Amino acid sequence: SLSQMIESKEILVTGGTGFIGSHTVVELIELGYEPIILDNWSNSSQAILKQISAITGKDCVFYHGDMRDLEFLRSVFKKHSISGVIHFAAFKAVAESVEKPLHYYDNNLGALLNLLKCLEEFEVNKIVFSSSCTVYGVANSLDPLTEEMPVGKPNSPYGWTKWMAEQILMDIAKGTSLRPIFLRYFNPMGAHVSGKLGELPLGPPNNVLPYITQTAAGIRKELTIFGNDYDTPDGTCVRDYIHVMDVAKAHVKSLMHSFESAFEVFNLGTGKGTSVLELVQLFEQVTSKKLNYHFGARRPGDVDALYADVSKAKKFLNWNTERTIEDAILDAWKWEQYRLEHEIS
Ligand code: WQD
Repeated sequence: SLSQMIESKEILVTGGTGFIGSHTVVELIELGYEPIILDNWSNSSQAILKQISAITGKDCVFYHGDMRDLEFLRSVFKKHSISGVIHFAAFKAVAESVEKPLHYYDNNLGALLNLLKCLEEFEVNKIVFSSSCTVYGVANSLDPLTEEMPVGKPNSPYGWTKWMAEQILMDIAKGTSLRPIFLRYFNPMGAHVSGKLGELPLGPPNNVLPYITQTAAGIRKELTIFGNDYDTPDGTCVRDYIHVMDVAKAHVKSLMHSFESAFEVFNLGTGKGTSVLELVQLFEQVTSKKLNYHFGARRPGDVDALYADVSKAKKFLNWNTERTIEDAILDAWKWEQYRLEHEIS
C-alpha cells in the first residue's frame, strides 16, 4: 500500500448526521477535509448539524434528501468536486429488518446502486463502505475473526444487505477503477469526548450502551441483560466494543490510502472481548452511579462471543485504537446528560 493525498478536499459523507457518520465528519474537518453531508434524517436529526458546528466551529455543506432519488444525488455530485465517498447511509436495526425485509433491501441496496451510478458518471473511484461483522455469519467464535474468514450467511436481512453490498462493490471493482474499502465494524459505541455529539436512538435503544445510559438517566426503568447462561466466563455475551472516534479515524485513514488491489477489507474492533456484565460494572465504576438491571431471557439471534482480529487494520491503515471502553462509557454518559439538558432529539 502507498499513502497518498487525494486531490480535492471535498468528501461526500452519506448518512453524515448518523451516529458513526457524524463523528467521522468531525474527524474529517479536524484533518482539513471538507465533508459534504447528505442525509434524509430517517434515523438522525437536524440538531446534529448544530452539534458538529459547536465542536468544530465550521458549518458543513449539507443536503437533505434520499439517495434513492438519483436526480437528487446527481445534483450533489454536479455541485462539488468530490474526490471520495464514505457511505454510511443505511438502515441498521437487525430485528426491524426481519419485520420489513423489502424496506431494508430497497433502501440499503437502492441507495448503493444510485451511488455507484454517480461514481461512474463523475469518475470517483474512492469509496469507503460501512460494513459489519455480521457478514461473517458465524454462529459462534472462540477465536478472533480475521478478514481471511470466508463471509458466511448473515442472520438477518440487514446483514444480507451488507453482504450483498460488498459483493456488488467487488464485482464492479473488477472491471473498473473503483477501489472500495470495506470496514467491518464490531460494536461501535461512545460519543465525542466533548459530550456534545453522540448517538440519537429513535425510541427504545436496541444497542446495549445507549440502553444503559438511558436507564441511568431515568428514561428507562431498568436494563434487561439478555441471558446469563451463555458459554462465557460470567455467563453473559461477549462482544468487541470499540470507541466511535476510533472507528471514525479508521475511515479517514482508509480514505488516505490507495491500494493496488481491487478492494480491501478491514475489521474494526479492539481485539478484546467484554461481557455485558463487565460493561455494566465498568459503567457503575466510571460514573459512580448504580444501574438498575436484572437478568432476563436470551435475545433471539445472539451468540456467546464475537471479537475481532484487528492486526490487518493496524498494519495497513497505520491505525490503532486510542481510546478505552471506559472512555467510551464516560463519553456516552456525558452525551446522555448533555442531550437531556439541551433537549436534543
Ligand atoms: C450487545 C450485547 C445483547 C441490549 C448489533 C448487530 C450487529 C452490529 C452491532 C450494526 C448482546 C446485550 C443488549 C439490552 C442486553 N451492527 N444486550 N440488553 O447484538 O452485538 O450487534 O449491533 O449495525 O450487526 O447485531 O449489539 O448492542 O444489540 O448487544 O443484554 O437491552 O448486549 O444481548 O449480548 P450486537 P447490541
